[in-house]
Amino acid sequence: MARSRKRPEDLRSARWYGGNDLRATGHHSRTLQMGYAREEFLGKPVIGIINTWSDINPCHAHFRMRADEVKRGVWQAGGFPIEMPAIALAEPFQKPSTMLYRNFLAMETEELLRSYPVDGAVLMGGCDKTTPALIMGATSMGLPFIYMPAGPMLRGNFHGEPLGSGTDRWKYWAERRAGKLSDEDWNEAVDGIARSHGHCMTMGTASTMTSAAEALGLTLPGAASIPASDANHPRMASASGRRIVEMVWEDLRPSEILTREAFDNAITVVHALSGSTNAVIHLVAMAGRAGIDLGIERFDELARNVPVLANLRPAGAYLMEDFYYAGGLRALLNEIAPLLRLECRTVNGRTLGENVAGAKIYNTDVIRTREKALAQNGGLAVLRGNLAPDGAVIKPLAAESRLLAHTGPAVVFKDYPDLLARIDDDGLKVDENSVLVLQNAGPLGAPGMPEWGQLPIPKRLLQKGVRDMVRISDARMSGTSYGTCVLHVAPEAFVGGPLALVRDGDLIELNVEARKLELKVSDEELARRRKDWQPRPAHFPRGYGALFARHIMQANKGCDFDILQHGPPTPEPEVHH
Ligand code: FES
Repeated sequence: MARSRKRPEDLRSARWYGGNDLRATGHHSRTLQMGYAREEFLGKPVIGIINTWSDINPCHAHFRMRADEVKRGVWQAGGFPIEMPAIALAEPFQKPSTMLYRNFLAMETEELLRSYPVDGAVLMGGCDKTTPALIMGATSMGLPFIYMPAGPMLRGNFHGEPLGSGTDRWKYWAERRAGKLSDEDWNEAVDGIARSHGHCMTMGTASTMTSAAEALGLTLPGAASIPASDANHPRMASASGRRIVEMVWEDLRPSEILTREAFDNAITVVHALSGSTNAVIHLVAMAGRAGIDLGIERFDELARNVPVLANLRPAGAYLMEDFYYAGGLRALLNEIAPLLRLECRTVNGRTLGENVAGAKIYNTDVIRTREKALAQNGGLAVLRGNLAPDGAVIKPLAAESRLLAHTGPAVVFKDYPDLLARIDDDGLKVDENSVLVLQNAGPLGAPGMPEWGQLPIPKRLLQKGVRDMVRISDARMSGTSYGTCVLHVAPEAFVGGPLALVRDGDLIELNVEARKLELKVSDEELARRRKDWQPRPAHFPRGYGALFARHIMQANKGCDFDILQHGPPTPEPEVHH
């Protein structure tokens, strides 16, 4: 049955622009002031283009142009575009972590859409936290929206070898620390690793989350894989602008798209990509905004049946540019079609199944067929045990397989400054069997749960050839990182989770197959230590940090603010004058 279409007087923006009274004419005069004629905006869907461009965000350097291309599409389809800048969340620069500000951008997005005469939105993001933040905010607001992903940058290049964002930076830095790379070569690698605009081109958090957004049905088909500097990218931007106008007339809202089944699709895709561990936190938070209680176990349940098909760094060999030429996400989705809920609706009005039908893989080394999968399952695993009663996460494919079942003595760092001060100390009692433990690096402890979870290997061991060890923390890890890193331990040390009670020399058992993380210390001894445990002082006496500390939830709850979770609808603003 055809959907009934909205009439101009039904538009939300008609509350500002409709009629001819003092209130409406005030809004008319201020829009006329910007040089628009009445026929350009009256009775048209107003499209908010949330632009996370900033001079400080290299991943979104092309967003000024892209905003114009989105506008082009909105005009063509008979809408009225208004560009709305929002905080950029620039992963390389923002401290202590962009994660501290993810919920800030989510709030900003929601309130921008709520407080202005907006009928629908195009969300422009891509650099790690921007994707979940924009989607969380727009989902809470509930207006029709399309996500326009920034697209990955081109492959890096160093001495004729492709370089991947993050992944190869950690790799060559380890070589440099081991004395195997000259300063000159290191500088050449730095020159070549980020050579165009766009987000990180490994299967890091950015590529993982934009792909998850596409699998959720929130982008136009194929959008997430297009390199930022490919001419197909601006074409996708203007097509997003055209489509959102139609979505407003159709009243196609996120509540019709973001179903439990759509989140299963997103999780399945994250596993098939061997995507970033950060996806666990973000998808839980995004689902929460859609009113879906998504437990972290769901990631483990689905992981057991999903083959890893994307041969992309850090788990594999290639980069996003190769992935695009090999057929991109549509081809991968088509290959795992039997594992997906193909009936889920997407922003273009078609189902996911219709969008991926017929998509072909052009290079089966980059996008593997199910028969030649990189691994038959296990993109991510959720661990439990007395060290992580509320769960922890590991990416087994990024680990040396010998360490996936390992018991060793803990070497404990009480916080990140302690780690930096002592990790290369010749007096540190550590060997390749040790388990490195970092405390107080979680959502409240750090604060902001930075990507410190890939603890550095002590220099002494690097020089001996050791390149991986078991590492455990309540921090996150960059999606471009690798190693046997147990992350997101919940509850975190700062709130008195068992991680806070670990001491040097305690034996810790990691068994990924059994999904186990155990501190081999008796309950009596742990109870004694708990009695002696002293909370640390709060980080922020005032401001956004204080708000964050008051409302942030733990990693297994997606680190959203409790006050931003799904609930009764927030009232629409009064529009009086
Ligand atoms: Fe922006 Fe990696 S720094 S995506």
